[in-house]
Amino acid sequence: MRTIVAGNWKMNKDRAEALALVSKLVGWSEELEGDVEVVIAPPFPFLEMAVQCTRGTRIKVAAQNCHAVAQGAYTGEVSVLMLKSLGVTHCIVGHSERRQYFGETDTQVAEKMKTLLFHGLTPIYCCGEVLSERESGKFFHVVEEQLREALGGLSEEELAGCIVAYEPVWAIGTGRTASAEQAQEMHAFIRAYLSERGAPEVPILYGGSCKPDNAASLFACADVNGGLIGGAALDAGQFTELVHIAHRVKQDA
Ligand code: 13P
Repeated sequence: MRTIVAGNWKMNKDRAEALALVSKLVGWSEELEGDVEVVIAPPFPFLEMAVQCTRGTRIKVAAQNCHAVAQGAYTGEVSVLMLKSLGVTHCIVGHSERRQYFGETDTQVAEKMKTLLFHGLTPIYCCGEVLSERESGKFFHVVEEQLREALGGLSEEELAGCIVAYEPVWAIGTGRTASAEQAQEMHAFIRAYLSERGAPEVPILYGGSCKPDNAASLFACADVNGGLIGGAALDAGQFTELVHIAHRVKQDA
């Protein structure tokens, strides 16, 4: 199984700060052991710089969003072709913040994924329940619906080209992380869906207040293939530490 540590910078950093963070990561990436895949997702304006700085290293660059249509009159939007022409290889889709603040639906996410896959980019598809759904016990049902709507129309081959991230919304930016048991049972549930669809090897990342002090127990779970990191990805030291932890834990497993 592949192991991936991806950093979602969200809407943080100015150009100088972004350059400093990428430069530190590049400097330290040479010391990274093992074969953990490392992905960073800076904001749109810094993608080109990030691709240029990371060229020839193991760090890949993701966008945080894209439009479903390849080009056209969509003021303010960014197309998959633009991302591809920059050398961006991955794109986060369906993040809970896009669902919550921009009304993004799984139907739209499904279209974005089709376009990304058609042009050879890897979608990082985010799913996860909100707090009320966790507390009412509906979380498996909610995630199952998300998976069916967003991934249901993909062929087996397309699905195999995706990464899934389970991000319980109540754990994002709250300092409250899912326990290893909660993460593993949901990841196993997602794995069962992917296996049923003929794509059991799709990496499933955990996201939500994942930090160096809690990552080892999460990454040790059999169906957790790494993390999608928010806050801790804004600090080169913490992010690099998370890559080391993922390597150590998976090597011991
Ligand atoms: P935090 O790690 O800040 O909780 O964010 C997780 C996330 O949303 C990554 O996409």
